[in-house]
Amino acid sequence: MKKNITVINGDGIGPEVTAQSIKVLNAIADRYDHEFNYTYCLMGADAIDKTGSPLPDETIASCLNSDAVLFGAIGHPKYDNDPTAKVRPEQGLLKLRKALQLYANIRPITTYAALQHLSPLKPKHLEGVDFIIFRELTGGIYFGKKELSEDQNTALDECIYTSDEVVRIAKLAFEFAGNRKRKLTLVDKSNVLETSRLWRRVVKEIAPQYPTVAVDYMFVDNAAMQIILNPKQFDVILTENMFGDILSDEASVLAGSLGLSPSASVGTGTAMFEPIHGSYPQAAGKDIANPLGSILSTAMMLEYMQMHEEAAIVRSAVEWTLQNRFVTKDIDPINFYFTSTIGDLVSDCITNKITGEVNQ
Ligand code: IPM
Ligand code: MN
Repeated sequence: MKKNITVINGDGIGPEVTAQSIKVLNAIADRYDHEFNYTYCLMGADAIDKTGSPLPDETIASCLNSDAVLFGAIGHPKYDNDPTAKVRPEQGLLKLRKALQLYANIRPITTYAALQHLSPLKPKHLEGVDFIIFRELTGGIYFGKKELSEDQNTALDECIYTSDEVVRIAKLAFEFAGNRKRKLTLVDKSNVLETSRLWRRVVKEIAPQYPTVAVDYMFVDNAAMQIILNPKQFDVILTENMFGDILSDEASVLAGSLGLSPSASVGTGTAMFEPIHGSYPQAAGKDIANPLGSILSTAMMLEYMQMHEEAAIVRSAVEWTLQNRFVTKDIDPINFYFTSTIGDLVSDCITNKITGEVNQ
């Protein structure tokens, strides 16, 4: 198969981790005789430095014309420490999500036996943990009206949802749940927020169309606690934009490191694949960041392009590195391997068909 992929390195550790995913894609192309063409585009602080805009028009155009987008990370401390900055790197990512109409951000939470000792939870709470967060990505408080009064002492962030916005992601989440453990948990704050009451009403209306899926409802404060107390209870969590942002960072540490968690953003335009971690500026350029979040996002990309065997091989190769303790500094601060070495190991594992070990 021939596929065109827009690659956006972004900021901080973005270029380093994305480079490992490109090695992995090339190894897959080699093994399966596919052709992947890459177009590199700018977004974030990097784009502001080079063009003045966090999302140049060429980037949007390239993404719209591609089969998939691979994205690294976004953000730079010089903007985080300056609340008055008018142009911010994150605006690029939000604008691109909107331009591609990526309304659903899918964040799987998986745990690995080899890393259980790193999790803040005891092993008995981790066995069997396997759930997916469906985070709404193009609505809510992220995209509502924003205002700062003239005297700069009053600020406003409006949160709006329409029932159509809830319906489209809810249907997707129900379909996924139907093919998994058949449980969907809507996380909201419907005891306080009108938008949450809308979410709850819409999900209740849709639920009868998916009779095999059991639905429950949980307030977000309780959900934050349950993810730590009893994560096994979850299968598919459906939630709005900001709750999903917060809960997915929380849930990702169950695996032992935020650096391992992948994500897929899907909608009506080209889908985008990115690790859930941020730009981690302290590690930028040091070859120490964990590339597995990006590599596992690449596996989700292959899945999305209907390359199921290819995706499975990437995941097996990742597991092989973990089992053999080829890990980055976030996982083992003493005996660690560099970012680029992990990328080489995963791709060698794929090209050299170390299938005996890989496919066990
Ligand atoms: C994420 C990030 C982004 C978000 C930021 C960088 C705008 O935290 O993808 O989770 O809040 O959506
Ligand atoms: Mn986030």
